[in-house]
Amino acid sequence: MSTRPEVALVTGAGGGIGRATVSRLAAAGAGIVAVDRDGDTLDRLTADLAASGGRAVAVVGDITDEALAPRAVETALASFGTPTILVNNAGVGSDQVPVWEVEPSAWRRDLEINLTSHFLMCRAVVPAMIEAGYGRIVNVASAAGMEGHPLAGGYAAAKAGLVAMTKSMGKELAKTGVIVNAIAPALIGTPMLEAEWFSDDIKRMLLERIPMGRLGRPEEVAEMIAFLASDRVTFSTGAVFDLSGGRATY
Ligand SMILES: NC(=O)c1ccc[n+]([C@@H]2O[C@H](COP(=O)([O-])OP(=O)(O)OC[C@H]3O[C@@H](n4cnc5c(N)ncnc54)[C@H](O)[C@@H]3O)[C@@H](O)[C@H]2O)c1
Repeated sequence: MSTRPEVALVTGAGGGIGRATVSRLAAAGAGIVAVDRDGDTLDRLTADLAASGGRAVAVVGDITDEALAPRAVETALASFGTPTILVNNAGVGSDQVPVWEVEPSAWRRDLEINLTSHFLMCRAVVPAMIEAGYGRIVNVASAAGMEGHPLAGGYAAAKAGLVAMTKSMGKELAKTGVIVNAIAPALIGTPMLEAEWFSDDIKRMLLERIPMGRLGRPEEVAEMIAFLASDRVTFSTGAVFDLSGGRATY
């Protein structure tokens, strides 16, 4: 990780990739503000971290709530100091129906959770990073946002939007010391794959498209996030890094 004292806000911290990311950043010494709507997983996460000498505080809430992002920043300031890292990781999949059959409320939910919430977090965090002259933002997009995804059009559209937001912010912030990148994982072995909407057929189809022939591990994703969240990244911003076992050729 970096040589500076790090303060990291991680959303979706209780899930597969979030938990691995928090563990990785905390092991490197970062103070963690762990955000998730699932209070039980956050309780377990912060207890485990405390037992291993990590420093973390939990913020329980729904990231689509406009009040949550400012609350997370206030918690960071009160507990550790100005955030140096923001990992926009929380996300949910779509309902497994073709785009023209998606209920408008479900479409809006896909975009609210998978895109607008990340905008809200950036809106709350970036001014302090600009003032400090330093920041690293990692947006967890998806291969779906690069290629589209049958029966998950809302999710794919939101992830594509997140990629475009990353590219826009990378350009806007290029001279400020604040670096913004995205990652685009393919299939990663996390609790998301156990969700009702994630059918066996879809999983098989996605696995067949990965030349390495296996799922990615949350720890592999966390390793790339930790790199992109560090001060070792100095000349990449507004970029998208794939983690796809050889699937991505863009
Ligand atoms: N697992 C994969 O194959 C895969 C592939 C590509 C991208 N991703 C992305 O990685 C990210 C993490 O996914 P994961 O696989 O770890 O899933 P996960 O289901 O294990 O974790 C997601 C976490 O986000 C939280 N969350 C969801 N909606 C929220 C909300 N409105 N407010 C607060 N918290 C909320 C959940 O409680 C959960 O803890 C997501 O953005 C997902 O789209 C996952």
